[in-house]
Amino acid sequence: MELLRVENLSKSYGKGEAKVDALKNINLSIKKGEFIAIVGPSGSGKSTLLHLLGGVDKPTSGNVFINDINIYDLKEKDLAIFRRRNIGLIYQFYNLIPVLTVKENILLPAELDNREIDKEYLEDLLKTLDLKERENHLPSELSGGQQQRTSIGRALINRPSIVLADEPTGNLDSKNSKEIVELLKVSVKKYNQTLIMITHDTNIALQADRVITIEDGIIKSDEVI
Ligand SMILES: Nc1ncnc2c1ncn2[C@@H]1O[C@H](COP(=O)(O)OP(=O)(O)OP(=O)(O)O)[C@@H](O)[C@H]1O
Ligand SMILES: [Mg+2]
Repeated sequence: MELLRVENLSKSYGKGEAKVDALKNINLSIKKGEFIAIVGPSGSGKSTLLHLLGGVDKPTSGNVFINDINIYDLKEKDLAIFRRRNIGLIYQFYNLIPVLTVKENILLPAELDNREIDKEYLEDLLKTLDLKERENHLPSELSGGQQQRTSIGRALINRPSIVLADEPTGNLDSKNSKEIVELLKVSVKKYNQTLIMITHDTNIALQADRVITIEDGIIKSDEVI
Protein backbone atom coordinates (compact mmCIF):
# COMPACT_ATOMS: atom_id res chain seq x y z
CA MET A 1 0.00 0.00 0.00
CA GLU A 2 1.36 3.39 -0.96
CA LEU A 3 1.96 5.67 1.98
CA LEU A 4 3.95 8.50 0.51
CA ARG A 5 4.12 9.90 -3.00
CA VAL A 6 6.38 12.61 -4.31
CA GLU A 7 5.56 14.28 -7.61
CA ASN A 8 7.95 16.51 -9.57
CA LEU A 9 9.50 17.83 -6.41
CA SER A 10 12.06 20.62 -6.74
CA LYS A 11 13.74 22.86 -4.22
CA SER A 12 16.01 25.81 -4.89
CA TYR A 13 17.70 28.01 -2.35
CA GLY A 14 18.79 31.61 -2.92
CA LYS A 15 18.55 33.82 -5.97
CA GLY A 16 20.58 34.88 -9.01
CA GLU A 17 24.26 33.98 -8.79
CA ALA A 18 23.78 32.34 -5.40
CA LYS A 19 20.91 30.09 -6.52
CA VAL A 20 21.33 26.43 -5.63
CA ASP A 21 19.06 23.79 -7.18
CA ALA A 22 19.16 21.35 -4.28
CA LEU A 23 16.46 18.98 -5.66
CA LYS A 24 15.47 18.63 -9.29
CA ASN A 25 12.17 17.06 -10.20
CA ILE A 26 12.10 14.11 -7.82
CA ASN A 27 9.42 11.42 -8.25
CA LEU A 28 9.03 8.71 -5.67
CA SER A 29 6.54 6.28 -4.17
CA ILE A 30 7.03 4.69 -0.75
CA LYS A 31 4.99 1.83 0.69
CA LYS A 32 3.73 1.45 4.21
CA GLY A 33 6.22 -0.48 6.33
CA GLU A 34 9.21 0.02 4.05
CA PHE A 35 12.67 0.73 5.49
CA ILE A 36 14.44 3.03 3.07
CA ALA A 37 18.03 4.20 3.22
CA ILE A 38 18.96 7.43 1.45
CA VAL A 39 22.61 7.69 0.51
CA GLY A 40 24.71 10.06 -1.57
CA PRO A 41 27.55 12.56 -1.35
CA SER A 42 27.56 15.58 0.93
CA GLY A 43 25.49 18.41 -0.51
CA SER A 44 23.55 16.12 -2.87
CA GLY A 45 20.16 17.07 -1.39
CA LYS A 46 19.42 14.25 1.08
CA SER A 47 18.47 16.44 4.05
CA THR A 48 16.53 18.76 1.78
CA LEU A 49 14.47 15.79 0.55
CA LEU A 50 13.88 14.47 4.07
CA HIS A 51 12.70 17.86 5.28
CA LEU A 52 10.29 18.15 2.36
CA LEU A 53 8.94 14.64 3.04
CA GLY A 54 8.39 15.62 6.65
CA GLY A 55 6.58 18.86 5.93
CA VAL A 56 9.34 20.86 7.59
CA ASP A 57 10.20 23.01 4.59
CA LYS A 58 8.23 24.13 1.53
CA PRO A 59 9.18 22.92 -1.96
CA THR A 60 9.84 25.38 -4.78
CA SER A 61 7.54 23.24 -6.93
CA GLY A 62 5.93 19.82 -6.87
CA ASN A 63 3.87 17.90 -4.33
CA VAL A 64 4.20 15.51 -1.42
CA PHE A 65 1.23 13.24 -0.66
CA ILE A 66 1.00 11.30 2.58
CA ASN A 67 -1.97 8.91 2.65
CA ASP A 68 -3.20 10.84 -0.39
CA ILE A 69 -3.18 14.13 1.51
CA ASN A 70 -1.31 16.86 -0.32
CA ILE A 71 0.59 18.12 2.72
CA TYR A 72 1.65 21.46 1.24
CA ASP A 73 -1.99 22.22 0.45
CA LEU A 74 -2.69 22.21 4.18
CA LYS A 75 -2.81 25.50 6.06
CA GLU A 76 0.29 26.12 8.12
CA LYS A 77 -1.44 25.32 11.40
CA ASP A 78 -3.01 22.14 10.02
CA LEU A 79 0.34 21.07 8.60
CA ALA A 80 1.95 21.54 12.03
CA ILE A 81 -0.71 19.31 13.58
CA PHE A 82 -0.46 16.75 10.76
CA ARG A 83 3.30 16.65 11.18
CA ARG A 84 3.13 16.19 14.92
CA ARG A 85 0.70 13.28 14.59
CA ASN A 86 2.13 11.50 11.58
CA ILE A 87 5.83 12.18 11.38
CA GLY A 88 8.67 11.42 13.77
CA LEU A 89 11.94 13.21 13.11
CA ILE A 90 15.35 12.15 14.36
CA TYR A 91 18.47 14.23 13.78
CA GLN A 92 22.20 13.63 14.03
CA PHE A 93 22.47 16.20 16.81
CA TYR A 94 19.73 15.20 19.15
CA ASN A 95 18.09 18.64 19.62
CA LEU A 96 16.86 17.80 23.10
CA ILE A 97 15.59 20.53 25.40
CA PRO A 98 18.40 20.91 27.97
CA VAL A 99 16.20 21.90 30.93
CA LEU A 100 13.80 18.97 30.49
CA THR A 101 14.42 15.44 31.75
CA VAL A 102 14.52 12.38 29.51
CA LYS A 103 10.89 11.62 30.25
CA GLU A 104 9.79 15.24 29.74
CA ASN A 105 11.65 15.46 26.44
CA ILE A 106 9.99 12.27 25.21
CA LEU A 107 6.54 13.43 26.30
CA LEU A 108 6.81 16.91 24.79
CA PRO A 109 5.18 16.16 21.38
CA ALA A 110 2.30 14.36 23.13
CA GLU A 111 1.77 17.32 25.43
CA LEU A 112 1.89 19.79 22.56
CA ASP A 113 -0.88 17.72 21.03
CA ASN A 114 -2.87 17.81 24.29
CA ARG A 115 -2.93 14.06 24.31
CA GLU A 116 -3.65 11.97 27.29
CA ILE A 117 -0.43 10.15 28.06
CA ASP A 118 -0.61 6.44 27.34
CA LYS A 119 1.39 5.39 30.41
CA GLU A 120 1.74 1.81 29.26
CA TYR A 121 3.17 2.88 25.92
CA LEU A 122 5.55 5.33 27.63
CA GLU A 123 6.82 2.60 29.94
CA ASP A 124 7.22 0.24 27.01
CA LEU A 125 9.14 2.91 25.10
CA LEU A 126 11.42 3.72 28.05
CA LYS A 127 12.16 0.01 28.46
CA THR A 128 12.72 -0.64 24.76
CA LEU A 129 15.04 2.36 24.62
CA ASP A 130 16.84 1.22 27.78
CA LEU A 131 16.19 4.59 29.42
CA LYS A 132 14.10 3.54 32.40
CA GLU A 133 16.95 4.23 34.84
CA ARG A 134 17.65 7.60 33.27
CA GLU A 135 14.10 8.90 32.92
CA ASN A 136 14.61 11.72 35.43
CA HIS A 137 18.03 12.78 34.16
CA LEU A 138 18.81 15.86 32.10
CA PRO A 139 20.32 15.51 28.62
CA SER A 140 23.65 16.90 29.89
CA GLU A 141 23.88 13.89 32.21
CA LEU A 142 23.56 11.37 29.40
CA SER A 143 25.92 9.64 26.99
CA GLY A 144 25.58 10.31 23.26
CA GLY A 145 23.76 7.02 22.73
CA GLN A 146 21.34 7.75 25.57
CA GLN A 147 20.66 11.21 24.18
CA GLN A 148 19.96 9.74 20.75
CA ARG A 149 17.68 7.11 22.28
CA THR A 150 15.79 9.91 24.05
CA SER A 151 15.34 11.72 20.74
CA ILE A 152 14.03 8.47 19.26
CA GLY A 153 11.53 8.23 22.10
CA ARG A 154 10.41 11.77 21.37
CA ALA A 155 10.00 10.89 17.69
CA LEU A 156 7.93 7.80 18.52
CA ILE A 157 5.70 9.01 21.36
CA ASN A 158 2.83 10.02 19.09
CA ARG A 159 3.12 6.72 17.14
CA PRO A 160 3.80 8.38 13.80
CA SER A 161 3.25 6.40 10.61
CA ILE A 162 6.52 7.76 9.20
CA VAL A 163 9.86 7.98 10.96
CA LEU A 164 12.44 10.22 9.25
CA ALA A 165 16.02 10.02 10.47
CA ASP A 166 18.85 12.24 9.24
CA GLU A 167 22.12 10.43 9.96
CA PRO A 168 20.91 9.27 13.38
CA THR A 169 24.16 7.42 14.01
CA GLY A 170 26.47 10.07 12.53
CA ASN A 171 27.64 11.10 15.96
CA LEU A 172 27.97 7.70 17.60
CA ASP A 173 30.60 4.97 17.81
CA SER A 174 30.03 1.72 15.96
CA LYS A 175 28.57 -0.16 18.95
CA ASN A 176 26.03 2.57 19.69
CA SER A 177 25.27 2.97 15.97
CA LYS A 178 24.43 -0.70 15.71
CA GLU A 179 22.18 -0.52 18.73
CA ILE A 180 20.34 2.55 17.46
CA VAL A 181 19.68 0.97 14.07
CA GLU A 182 18.52 -2.29 15.68
CA LEU A 183 16.21 -0.34 17.93
CA LEU A 184 14.72 1.63 15.08
CA LYS A 185 14.20 -1.55 13.08
CA VAL A 186 12.48 -3.28 16.00
CA SER A 187 10.31 -0.28 16.72
CA VAL A 188 9.11 0.32 13.18
CA LYS A 189 8.24 -3.38 12.86
CA LYS A 190 6.42 -3.40 16.15
CA TYR A 191 4.38 -0.31 15.38
CA ASN A 192 4.09 -0.93 11.61
CA GLN A 193 5.89 2.27 10.69
CA THR A 194 7.77 3.40 7.61
CA LEU A 195 11.40 4.31 8.20
CA ILE A 196 13.37 6.62 5.93
CA MET A 197 16.95 7.05 7.02
CA ILE A 198 19.81 9.08 5.61
CA THR A 199 23.12 7.39 6.26
CA HIS A 200 26.73 7.49 5.15
CA ASP A 201 27.29 4.02 6.56
CA THR A 202 27.17 1.29 3.89
CA ASN A 203 26.56 -1.43 6.49
CA ILE A 204 23.46 0.38 7.70
CA ALA A 205 22.21 1.06 4.18
CA LEU A 206 22.46 -2.65 3.38
CA GLN A 207 20.02 -3.46 6.18
CA ALA A 208 17.28 -1.44 4.49
CA ASP A 209 14.66 -2.89 2.13
CA ARG A 210 15.50 -0.28 -0.46
CA VAL A 211 18.39 2.09 -1.08
CA ILE A 212 17.87 5.41 -2.85
CA THR A 213 21.00 7.17 -4.05
CA ILE A 214 20.81 10.93 -4.52
CA GLU A 215 23.41 12.78 -6.53
CA ASP A 216 23.35 16.43 -7.39
CA GLY A 217 19.65 16.78 -6.60
CA ILE A 218 18.41 13.83 -8.62
CA ILE A 219 17.71 10.15 -7.88
CA LYS A 220 20.69 8.35 -9.31
CA SER A 221 19.48 4.88 -8.37
CA ASP A 222 16.63 3.27 -6.48
CA GLU A 223 17.23 -0.37 -5.62
CA VAL A 224 15.35 -2.99 -3.68
CA ILE A 225 17.88 -5.13 -1.78
N1 LIG B 1 19.08 26.83 3.89
C1 LIG B 1 19.86 26.73 2.80
N2 LIG B 1 20.20 27.83 2.07
C2 LIG B 1 20.95 27.73 0.98
N3 LIG B 1 21.43 26.60 0.48
C3 LIG B 1 21.15 25.46 1.14
C4 LIG B 1 20.35 25.47 2.34
N4 LIG B 1 20.23 24.20 2.78
C5 LIG B 1 20.92 23.45 1.91
N5 LIG B 1 21.48 24.19 0.93
C6 LIG B 1 22.26 23.69 -0.23
O1 LIG B 1 21.49 22.70 -0.88
C7 LIG B 1 22.31 21.60 -1.28
C8 LIG B 1 21.78 20.32 -0.67
O2 LIG B 1 21.94 20.39 0.75
P1 LIG B 1 21.52 19.21 1.73
O3 LIG B 1 21.67 19.71 3.11
O4 LIG B 1 20.21 18.68 1.31
O5 LIG B 1 22.66 18.12 1.39
P2 LIG B 1 22.94 16.69 2.07
O6 LIG B 1 22.90 15.69 0.96
O7 LIG B 1 22.06 16.50 3.23
O8 LIG B 1 24.46 16.85 2.55
P3 LIG B 1 25.20 16.25 3.86
O9 LIG B 1 25.50 14.80 3.55
O10 LIG B 1 26.47 17.06 3.93
O11 LIG B 1 24.32 16.45 5.03
C9 LIG B 1 23.73 21.96 -0.85
O12 LIG B 1 24.40 22.47 -1.96
C10 LIG B 1 23.54 23.01 0.21
O13 LIG B 1 24.61 23.90 0.23
MG1 LIG C 1 22.36 16.37 5.30
